[in-house]
Order: sequence, then C-alpha cells, then structure tokens
Amino acid sequence: MIVVALKPYNVKEILEGLKNSFDSKKHLVISVVTGVSLKELAAILPHEVPIFRAMPNTAIAIQESVTCLCSAHATNAQVNYVTDLFHQLGISISIDEKLMDAATVLGACGIAYALRFIRAATQGGIEIGFDAKTANLIAAQTVKGAAELLLKGNRHPEEEIDKVTTPKGCTIVGLNEMEHRGFSSSLIRGISASYNKIGS
Ligand SMILES: NC(=O)c1ccc[n+]([C@@H]2O[C@H](COP(=O)([O-])OP(=O)(O)OC[C@H]3O[C@@H](n4cnc5c(N)ncnc54)[C@H](OP(=O)(O)O)[C@@H]3O)[C@@H](O)[C@H]2O)c1
Repeated sequence: MIVVALKPYNVKEILEGLKNSFDSKKHLVISVVTGVSLKELAAILPHEVPIFRAMPNTAIAIQESVTCLCSAHATNAQVNYVTDLFHQLGISISIDEKLMDAATVLGACGIAYALRFIRAATQGGIEIGFDAKTANLIAAQTVKGAAELLLKGNRHPEEEIDKVTTPKGCTIVGLNEMEHRGFSSSLIRGISASYNKIGS
C-alpha cells in the first residue's frame, strides 16, 4: 500500500519518476492529495493499479478523522479493506469523486472553522469571567458534547437547540443576536468561498 501525501504541485514529477516500480498485482495507491483526480493519477500510474483518493482531516492523528473515499480499478475486497483501514482512524465515508472538493472544505478545512468557533467562544468566556485555560476547556468540551449528541444520540441539531432555548431565556437571546450578526450566514458563505477557491 503506497500512500501519496505530497503537495499537489509535486505529484506529477515524483510519481512519473517512480512509475516503473508500481505493479498492479502487488500495489494499491492511496492519494490524500487535494485536487488531483483519479483520472490524472491513472494517467501517470501503470494501467490498472488500484487507486484511492482519501480526504482525511488532521484529527486522524488521534483516530477521530472523517475520511471521504473514492476509487478506480479497485476490487470490492480492496474497497472494503481501505474503508476499514480509515474506519480505524475515525470514520470513513465512500463518496462520488465529484464531491471530493466539497469533502475537502467540509471535512479538512472544517477543522479550522470549528477551532475558530472554540477560540471565539473562549474569548467570550474570558470576557464573562473565566481564565483562558478554563474557558478553553469548557468551550472545547461543550463542542465535543454537542457533536456527540448528534453522532451518538442520532439527534437533529434543531431538536437539541429547542431543548435549551427557554422562552424569553438567555440562550435564545444570545443565539438570535448571533444570527442577527450573520452567524449561520457567515459560516455558509465561508464554506462557499473555500469551495470556490479550490475550484479556481
Ligand atoms: N493538512 C491537511 O489537513 C490535509 C488534509 C487532507 C489532505 N491534505 C493533502 O495532503 C497533502 C500533504 O499535505 P501536508 O500538509 O501533509 O504537506 P507537507 O507536510 O508539506 O508534506 C509533504 C510531504 O511531501 C514530501 N516530499 C516533498 N518533496 C518530495 C520529494 N521530492 N520526494 C518525496 N517526498 C517529497 C515531504 O517530505 P519531507 O518532509 O521529507 O520533505 C513531506 O513529507 C497535500 O496534497 C494536502 O492537500 C492535507
């Protein structure tokens, strides 16, 4: 199994130099390279070498990635093997290759968006009285708990929001103020801007 984890601009030159060493009966290639298609990889590699594109995120370092996968020239057994491999490093999802850029934005760039949320919540927490370390811990664990309600509890986000928004209460006031300031809208526009940048 050969994992290609090069910068996109290095891929062609480096794989061209190695291509005579690939054997379609022995080798399986997994590329995590952003924006290099299965077709482009297949054009460099020898005929019929099984190729996977995987889009993990940096939480793979602690086995908490979401990894989106697609493949060419792979048998069902090879697909199952690679899916299972990435499942051990978080969760893995098979997607259509045309969604790979979208997976990059939502999953890989998404780490940065989520961390900026935690950073901003920490700053708010400091303003209302906590020291930075405690505020960061509360913000991070709260995000983890909210995510687990969806992942383990199989709930819908709005269902959980409804549970904590008491009529005329402090949560709905804060949440609506965030929305007046463009909270959901700025996230959606940011995701869209990242996606347009990948495609440009
Ligand atoms: N960062 C993310 O969250 C993320 C998520 C999903 C996918 N990706 C994709 O993963 C790929 C790698 O990203 P990265 O952030 O890991 O980049 P990186 O840290 O710069 O790693 C690039 C690797 O390429 C190696 N390399 C450079 N020139 C080489 C050569 N001539 N021959 C052999 N190896 C060479 C480097 O080895 P040396 O260190 O020995 O020079 C290094 O290990 C990118 O295509 C990126 O789009 C990244």
